[in-house]
Amino acid sequence: MKNWKRAITLILALAMALALSIPGFAANADYSDVSPDAWYAGAVDYVTRHELMNGVGNGRFNPGGSTSRAMLVTTLWRMRGEPVVNYLMQFSDVPGGTWYTEAVRWAASERIAEGYNGRFSPDDPVSREQLVAMLWRYAGSPAAEPGQDFTDEGDISDYAAQAVDWARASGVVNGKDGNRFDPQGSATRAEVAAILQNFQALEEMPDPGPAPSTGGKALVVYFSATGSTERVAGYIAEALNAGQFELVPVNPYTSADLNWTEPSSRVNDEHDDESLRDVKLTANTVDNWADYDTVFIGYPIWWGIAAWPVNDFVKNNDFTGKTVIPFCTSSSSGLGQSGELLAEMAGTGDWQAGQRFSSGASREQVAQWVSGLGLG
Ligand SMILES: Cc1cc2nc3c(=O)[nH]c(=O)nc-3n(C[C@H](O)[C@H](O)[C@H](O)COP(=O)(O)O)c2cc1C
Repeated sequence: MKNWKRAITLILALAMALALSIPGFAANADYSDVSPDAWYAGAVDYVTRHELMNGVGNGRFNPGGSTSRAMLVTTLWRMRGEPVVNYLMQFSDVPGGTWYTEAVRWAASERIAEGYNGRFSPDDPVSREQLVAMLWRYAGSPAAEPGQDFTDEGDISDYAAQAVDWARASGVVNGKDGNRFDPQGSATRAEVAAILQNFQALEEMPDPGPAPSTGGKALVVYFSATGSTERVAGYIAEALNAGQFELVPVNPYTSADLNWTEPSSRVNDEHDDESLRDVKLTANTVDNWADYDTVFIGYPIWWGIAAWPVNDFVKNNDFTGKTVIPFCTSSSSGLGQSGELLAEMAGTGDWQAGQRFSSGASREQVAQWVSGLGLG
């Protein structure tokens, strides 16, 4: 027994010694063409650790190489958690089943990337203004004051002008020598890495505004199949210092289940036969429910209505005396009648008009809406 214990202790000690020596190695990709002194070394390390960009093979990162449009939308798609969207592919040059097909479908559905003349041109290099425009749209097209001009400001295409103002004001992008933006120059992989690192730092920045109080306790209840509604729910909870309660189906939805383009998929079956929409949740009651006086209910829009997994919660709770605020995310549909239908289903509670957000809504957009609700 003693020998057995000693052996285990030795194995654990060895494992810990190895673990301690590994992180530095694992975190640093050690590309042969990225000198530790290069201005982009930290950014390359960042995008590698966060699995946003890969090397190009043979231990190289190719920092001076260009980034294709397919690569960029795939990176953004990964940052967003690889959402599955129901959107008809409209580009003749994006076949089904490639490594970038679903990313392009998502980017097109969110109007993050546009094509030209029915083509997406996946292999074309991304220009600096295209890169900034896509990130800006990904961030929810935030407003920006035109700040200091670049010397080549006049060369920036109209579609990218606001995006460049925003990117400069928020520190996402810096000019080149001579205060040039070089809008049509192709974005090198090192530049893309640096811009992504700046952008992520911006996204992760805590909201500096004071949290409005609800004057009571608020709870954010949500269902989210692919993470968009979850993110918005998180922003609401953060802005109000509110609790969160995720609605989790006993039988969760897989990507295949959510594939609306497949006629026999689970969502299509449930959509076609209302009796199948009775989706059981792992939990449909909240501890200390009586303590909450404001309840947000969030869901994705499915075929114009609230995704039905929220029904189990709505039907089984008493909302008497509570203010209920529905919110949803969608590719393009509005909130429609989804809130009213849920209010009818609940039969109790003071249901408000609610709000629709795009799947890519930013923290600022959500916080702005919350602060306009006049809670408190
Ligand atoms: C089955 C299904 C049906 C959908 N129907 C619509 C729709 O009618 N209108 C729309 O704008 N988006 C529709 N979408 C897109 C989602 O509403 C959108 O991607 C949402 O942000 C996903 O939220 P989630 O990531 O929290 O699941 C649908 C998505 C799925 C999976």
